[in-house]
Amino acid sequence: MKHLKEQDPEVYQVLENETRRQNDGMELIASENFVTRAVIQAMGSTLTNKYAEGLPGKRYYGGCHHVDVVEDVARNRAKALFNAEWANVQPHSGATANAAVYLTFLKPGDTLLGLDLSHGGHLTHGSPVNFSGITYDARFYGVEKETGRLDMNVIRDKAREIRPRMISIGASAYPRDFDYEAFRSIADEVGAFLWMDMAHTAGLIAARLLNDPLPHAHVVSTTTHKTLRGPRGGMLLIGKDSENTLGKVAPKSGRVKMWSELLDSAVFPGTQGGPLMHVIASKAVALGEALKDDFTEYQKKVVANSKAMAARFLEMDYHLVSGGTDNHLMLIDLRNKNITGKQAEEALGRADLTVNKNMVPFDTQSPFVTSGIRIGSPAMTTRGMGEDVFRRIAELMDQVITNPESDTVIEKVRGEVHQLCEQYPLYDFVIA
Ligand SMILES: Cc1ncc(COP(=O)(O)O)c(C=O)c1O
Repeated sequence: MKHLKEQDPEVYQVLENETRRQNDGMELIASENFVTRAVIQAMGSTLTNKYAEGLPGKRYYGGCHHVDVVEDVARNRAKALFNAEWANVQPHSGATANAAVYLTFLKPGDTLLGLDLSHGGHLTHGSPVNFSGITYDARFYGVEKETGRLDMNVIRDKAREIRPRMISIGASAYPRDFDYEAFRSIADEVGAFLWMDMAHTAGLIAARLLNDPLPHAHVVSTTTHKTLRGPRGGMLLIGKDSENTLGKVAPKSGRVKMWSELLDSAVFPGTQGGPLMHVIASKAVALGEALKDDFTEYQKKVVANSKAMAARFLEMDYHLVSGGTDNHLMLIDLRNKNITGKQAEEALGRADLTVNKNMVPFDTQSPFVTSGIRIGSPAMTTRGMGEDVFRRIAELMDQVITNPESDTVIEKVRGEVHQLCEQYPLYDFVIA
């Protein structure tokens, strides 16, 4: 068989260009990271050929004895990493993991209480343009205007008034930690299920640098490709499994099913067909990496770099939502800098500083324009950059944000960005 470069130069060229873009620029999108060669190798393997509907030992296809092994490795590593009794590593993405949560805990029309998208929540937490908002009666809590933080008393009052069937926690752009104990007490008081979507912070939670949702939430979902630094994908976890309270029983025995059994069925056949076995193998590799001590050291640096960068921005009179960060990301409200999120994203992009425009709480701009940008430290920390470099990146960003029309400034910053990136090499291959 031919090498891709020979067989399809058109596609190979795109891969080469994208690898160069990743090597040469500053990747500051909070939801992105750089995986290891081993993680990429498992993904680009023959396991992509295998159909394996079902679970290890209970498949609907023959020839699954090898992929069974790798799925068990992935599940066991996930359980060990998060101290969980149950894991399902099949969700194709964060969104499909969340779909399985909805299918398990809610009926169409049931009420959900989640974090507002414009306050840092995710589309799958009830946005009207997403299946979650279309299928369920989605209501929202938000951060307080003065503090940019969640106020658990306000959320409790809202839950008492709405009496949701499920409360979701988790965010795409919230720079602070969550009080899971308080959330659980609210959920118990109003008779709601509690679901944590730790897509963004899974790596930090695995390293025990943030509060642990597993002992408190009925179910936890995550992506595997953000701070966790694995392949693109999703995963579901339960801290302590128990019998479901929905009255669902096993047809033959009449035994009450465990929550884990309902969630397994909600993934397949509920919301997915065949699992992506090459991605599951890759998840196993990434979870193996996350179980090593140096992963904790990496996550500590992610937070230290994020805090150092946030402090430098504050010194330069930037407004950070909530006044700083506890995690891997910060949200900058650019309104005092006389530039929109869209303009800042474009100007920074021209200097090879990649960020995304982001709504800030109580934003006056549309989601296509926005007043803010979101910045994250996971990817450049993976390259080995430390606090000094992150402070310098903040200064370079400031130069661009305050001179968005100046080609001279942008060219100069771009030059320094490339120089810095050269000092912290990334990929020396296109195909792993
Ligand atoms: C909190 C949260 N949940 C779910 C998702 C969805 O993940 P995916 O893009 O893999 O569907 C994201 C992605 O950004 C997220 O931030």
